[in-house]
Amino acid sequence: MENEKKVLYSGMQATNVLTLGNYLGALKNWVKLNEEYDCYFGVMDLHSLTVRQEPAEFRKKAKELYATFVAGGLDPKTNCIYYQSHVPEHAYLGWILDCFTYTGELSRMTQFKDKSAKHADNVNAGLFTYPVLMAADILLYQADLVPVGKDQKQHLEITRTIAQRFNQIYGDVFTVPEGYYGKQGAKVMSLQEPTKKMSKSDENVNSTILLLDDKDTIIRKFKKAVTDSEAEVRYDEENKPGVSNLMNIYGAITGKDNAEMEREFAGKGYGDFKMAVGEAVADELAPLQSRYRELMTTEKAYLEECIKENDARASHTAMKTLRKVRRKVGLTDIPDYH
Ligand code: TYM
Repeated sequence: MENEKKVLYSGMQATNVLTLGNYLGALKNWVKLNEEYDCYFGVMDLHSLTVRQEPAEFRKKAKELYATFVAGGLDPKTNCIYYQSHVPEHAYLGWILDCFTYTGELSRMTQFKDKSAKHADNVNAGLFTYPVLMAADILLYQADLVPVGKDQKQHLEITRTIAQRFNQIYGDVFTVPEGYYGKQGAKVMSLQEPTKKMSKSDENVNSTILLLDDKDTIIRKFKKAVTDSEAEVRYDEENKPGVSNLMNIYGAITGKDNAEMEREFAGKGYGDFKMAVGEAVADELAPLQSRYRELMTTEKAYLEECIKENDARASHTAMKTLRKVRRKVGLTDIPDYH
């Protein structure tokens, strides 16, 4: 029964060309947890508007992301996979929560600072209130658990702060969510500059593994990955960031811990190690890639049907929370809002 399970909520920006970081930090954990929870996964298209988008390309990307969630192993009949913009309650609650969030709190967000520096010509108000919309996403569904990569930790913390502040004034309106970060893979680093996060916007193509990269490309990129001159597979983030990042990736896929990996590659060179990581990643992604191709060619109608059903399901839950919030803050009833 739906109500017996706890609620899990997460999502990704609609403009992402997904990287191995998105996969290991988020999607893989969603798949692992999805049967245990009542799940909502959003294609976060409103968040993507904080950066200028080319409309046709944007629409296409949002559809591709939806299909990627399904291809990764989330059944859209049991998981509510939907577009954020199809449920206007997100933006509505976002506005209300803006009025419960301090500008001082938002100006401390490291992503805001980073993105403002990157897009200095377009530091818009949406970029500033981005975390409040994210809080609205999560709180609308009364989520207990939010599996994300470590780069989202600060956003999750402000979500908790906003929920607690609101609850303190109005009683228990929102569930205060917990973050979920995998032991390995919660922060996948660039293959070329392993002290920097792996990110799709990296200009060096060898830094990033894309989810749809073919096997040869994946192996080639791992072969070129920056390591060190020690030739010893040993976990040491500070002094061996490249090797530690590869161990993190390998561990997140195989489930092996650092000691096991160190034993496995004892006495072997980095060549063998990189090859093993490349093979593991390529094998892991192969089923997702072939399912993705099927969905994008022969199963478009099936996806459309799922989108429709899930829009209705997401709206139902979102309206329920918003109705409560509207009443609590003292807005007058909308006669036909159900
Ligand atoms: P986004 O779209 O940037 O990233 C999607 C997910 O991928 C994770 N991730 C990584 N994990 C490990 N290593 C990396 N190198 C890496 N790069 C990205 C992110 O942590 C994230 O889990 N603000 C969010 C989207 C969002 C959201 C939400 C998430 C909007 N509303 C509500 C959860 C709940 C974002 O921009 O993620």
